[in-house]
Amino acid sequence: MTWPEVEAHVARGGGIILPTGSTEQHGPMGLIGTDALCATAIAEAAAARCGALVAPTLALTPAPFNTAFPGTLSISEPLFRALAGEVLAGLAAQGYGCIYVLNGHGANIAPLTAAIAGLTPSPPLRLKSWWEFEPVNALRRQWYGDWEGMHATPSEIAITMATHRRVAPPEAALAPPERLSADYIRAHAGDRHGPPDEHRRAFPDGRVGSHSALARPEHGTALLAAAAEAVAADYAELAAAG
Ligand code: NI
Repeated sequence: MTWPEVEAHVARGGGIILPTGSTEQHGPMGLIGTDALCATAIAEAAAARCGALVAPTLALTPAPFNTAFPGTLSISEPLFRALAGEVLAGLAAQGYGCIYVLNGHGANIAPLTAAIAGLTPSPPLRLKSWWEFEPVNALRRQWYGDWEGMHATPSEIAITMATHRRVAPPEAALAPPERLSADYIRAHAGDRHGPPDEHRRAFPDGRVGSHSALARPEHGTALLAAAAEAVAADYAELAAAG
């Protein structure tokens, strides 16, 4: 867009969606940028429905536990908190009617929450991860059940199959990964995965409880539509409050 187009949008009271993702390994058949690609695609599809603008995606974020895998680029949590805080303050200062942060990476939630808490003054602002919405979860449960897992999930890989490209799984990835215990899932919520070498030793192909090979491009199309619909409705509610 040009700046006069943005100015006109802001003058109408229009808001903006800020996608946040990561740049990290996503198992043997998932693209490095999966989290950023999913958040961006859903934000753009939601924006087409609700008339929001979409800000440039924050794709360099904390993923320290995955740095032993080639392709992963991680920044520290304090740096990401500061970066997100300054970007949000910049958006707030530009006068958008509302700011909607659409997240695609678990480790972003704590620093984003802290950045948002430090933001004054702020227009109406909401943080959601795309997998939080019930219509999205119903599809994830229906197709993958517990094999959705924690990382390199079939749902996120299905979305990138629909929006970008399909990578054939290597032979070993046609079989399910090691099943996670309930204790592991509890202890590692929010991507608290520990030192990178240890993490790669524990999950050598990068899948963390997720059976990525269950992903299908047609699932991705449906997940993307369900998420975009839910985000657009949630955004509209936020915008109406502004
Ligand atoms: Ni991911």
